[in-house]
Amino acid sequence: MTTELITDIGQLVTNDPAGPRDDSPLGIVTDAAVLVADGRIAWVGPASDAPAADVVTSVRGAAVIPGFVDSHSHIVFAGDRAAEFEARMNGTAYSAGGIRSTVEATRAASDADLLGRATALVSEMRAQGTTTIEIKSGYGLTIDDEQRLLELAGRLTDEVTFLGAHVVPPEFADDGDSYVDLVVGDMLDACAPLARWIDVFCETGAFTPEQSRRILTAGASRGLGIRMHASQLGAGPGVQLAVELGAASVDHCTYLTDDDVAALAGSKTVATLLPGVEFSTRHPYPDARRMIDAGVTVAIASDCNPGSSFTSSMPFCVAVAVRDMRMTPAEALWAATAGGAAALRRDDVGRIRVGARADVVELAAPSYVHLAYRPGVPLIRRVWKDGALPDPVVPSR
Ligand code: NIG
Ligand code: FE
Repeated sequence: MTTELITDIGQLVTNDPAGPRDDSPLGIVTDAAVLVADGRIAWVGPASDAPAADVVTSVRGAAVIPGFVDSHSHIVFAGDRAAEFEARMNGTAYSAGGIRSTVEATRAASDADLLGRATALVSEMRAQGTTTIEIKSGYGLTIDDEQRLLELAGRLTDEVTFLGAHVVPPEFADDGDSYVDLVVGDMLDACAPLARWIDVFCETGAFTPEQSRRILTAGASRGLGIRMHASQLGAGPGVQLAVELGAASVDHCTYLTDDDVAALAGSKTVATLLPGVEFSTRHPYPDARRMIDAGVTVAIASDCNPGSSFTSSMPFCVAVAVRDMRMTPAEALWAATAGGAAALRRDDVGRIRVGARADVVELAAPSYVHLAYRPGVPLIRRVWKDGALPDPVVPSR
């Protein structure tokens, strides 16, 4: 076993306030070092106290953060919806119906094409500091296609979500309830063994709260954890349903009532905010400040998908969350790392502490604040995933 010491870290964000210094929720250690052994963090502390290691890597005063945990993506798809985006920027409203055009292209695509595209998106994500990725199905919407998308997703991540209830497919257009029968019946039989989570898009134009309850409880009875898309396009009962069912996360949360906020604050359900969606649809941003001040646990994710948010960049999402969702830079970074881990109910990622996976990102910057202060700038210098360092993404100094 080779050990590696990452040292000369000017500012280390651990997200572990109980660690060497109890500064803030970010658990910042200055002049720090991290020891990696066997893919895990073996030691964290001041560089001057660091243990010996086989390999010593100096980051020369740079900031180091935990790898981003992107807890919401839809990256197994084919086709392109740039024309839909362009029309939207020219004034056409976003609607859930655009999903169907991606479904058509995805059904027609080969496994190799789908896997090639998804792999390229995972590489993009990794190059931008993401080390944990959740991937949903949802552009197949037949038993065979949903199964196929889940199998492909499972080659790229362990965090696989069955989203057969993304939208009612055209062949069931007038009969959503019959499609729900299929989702909770044969489709769930085929898909549950391939997924960790079940999700539903509870929204006007997609699934009703009653249908959503049926789907989520059926998934839970098969051992799947619950996540949910809700209150993206307007207020509705989805958020409170998610809390009632003990969802790990309810995602979007763009239009919340006071009762929704209170329900989230009194629960273990994480509110996952997706700034790329509001950016790309020109909807109002969710009010993260209101949620955080009420005591809600907030995560940030990319929602990378061809319709509402075709970004793979967590640094971009952090910058937008700070600028437009009234989050502080510290809150946004926490939400994109430890918050994402909470949304996936994981305690082995999102933090740099002993025993956690060695998912570590070196920034081309002296402080994490630069992620929001320098929007659009490639600040991710090196990414260790499970302690391994692939080729540098941008040349190191
Ligand atoms: O999270 N809201 C539902 N699903 C995606 C949109 C997918 C699409 O438009 O293709 C989302 O925004
Ligand atoms: Fe989504």
